[in-house]
Amino acid sequence: MTKDPLTPYGNRPMVTPIVNAVNYEYGSFEVLRQITDGEIDGYTYHRDDNPTVRAVEKKIAAMEEAEDCIICTSGMAACTMIYLTYLSAGDHMIIFHDVYGAHYKVSLILERLGVSITWLDASQTGNIKDYIKSNTKMIFCETPSNPLCKIIDITALCRQADRVNAMVIVDNTFATPYHQKPLLLGADLVVHSATKGLGGHNDLMAGAIAGSKSHYNELWFTRQAIGTTHDAYSASLLERGLKTFELRAEKMANNAMAMAKYLAEHPRISRIHYPGLPADPGHKLALKQMQKGFGGVLAFDVGKNQEDAKKFINNLRIIFHAVSLGATESLICIPYLTTMLYLPPERRTGFGVGTNTVRLSAGIEKEGLLLEDLERALHDF
Ligand SMILES: Cc1ncc(COP(=O)(O)O)c(C=O)c1O
Repeated sequence: MTKDPLTPYGNRPMVTPIVNAVNYEYGSFEVLRQITDGEIDGYTYHRDDNPTVRAVEKKIAAMEEAEDCIICTSGMAACTMIYLTYLSAGDHMIIFHDVYGAHYKVSLILERLGVSITWLDASQTGNIKDYIKSNTKMIFCETPSNPLCKIIDITALCRQADRVNAMVIVDNTFATPYHQKPLLLGADLVVHSATKGLGGHNDLMAGAIAGSKSHYNELWFTRQAIGTTHDAYSASLLERGLKTFELRAEKMANNAMAMAKYLAEHPRISRIHYPGLPADPGHKLALKQMQKGFGGVLAFDVGKNQEDAKKFINNLRIIFHAVSLGATESLICIPYLTTMLYLPPERRTGFGVGTNTVRLSAGIEKEGLLLEDLERALHDF
């Protein structure tokens, strides 16, 4: 029977308790040694670790079929932890244009610190070997990408990266582990904005990085040093989100597919990107590396210009005009005006995004309500 004063009769709580303590009394010097040597998941100070946080990490590790996972304060904090852990002055990194816009800002910081960066379009993946250098240490991609849902061949990327022992990092936020497991395809690390589908309710920020135990240890060193440790309350919300994650992911993918099919036939939609559509350039590859559907995000061009896109969004009643994705509510935005604001204007349109391109993240509403909303909004401008 446990001696835990919280559960004196051994009845385990159904939910991981939220441990708000930032400081812990040492049980003994022997326990302190075991914690310090990494023999046990013990707790001393919140910046190091927290039991509520650790419980969630183990759940996300299982979802990604990883040895371990580390969570932190946001998706961008997770990406930055990866950069700080594995890149040094003199190293070269390859990153794809079609990643979340804030990477551009981080890339300016990395360049200041002596890292050189090559930006590529997803369509250049086939000849990535032309861009890999002897000092290339990392290749960072999102697939499906943000916002144009381009598909990158993870296995092919890893094969090329192996030639110079470069790490491959895949942001799996759009696909989620429900549809895609990059580690099984050869990636070294998977990173998530857990603010999105994993959390799922627009009420928490978190980042997650899944990989091997040794990667966990290296990333833990960085997190402990810089203090990007997640807080226990948000970790508890994230754990709650994970309980319904698969149901939500399935429903979102079905809603996205239904909306993509509808929009693909609509005369006011000039271009649509969704890997689930047979005509999409990434469809074949997506069928190979994704399972159980193609995710909940799609992008499309409305009318002739940005005014048309704005009118369409203003006409929506069910779908919310907001950034972010992977939430219970369907969310729509114009990336040029929002998620890509971090980029200079010429870069925003340099790789296929138009000023009238909208990104739509399906929620879990009834499919019919969403289709009606699109129909009404497209009819009225
Ligand atoms: C694909 C993707 N990765 C990373 C991020 C950054 O995550 P966070 O906002 O949690 O820092 C975002 C944010 O929108 C994203 O869409």
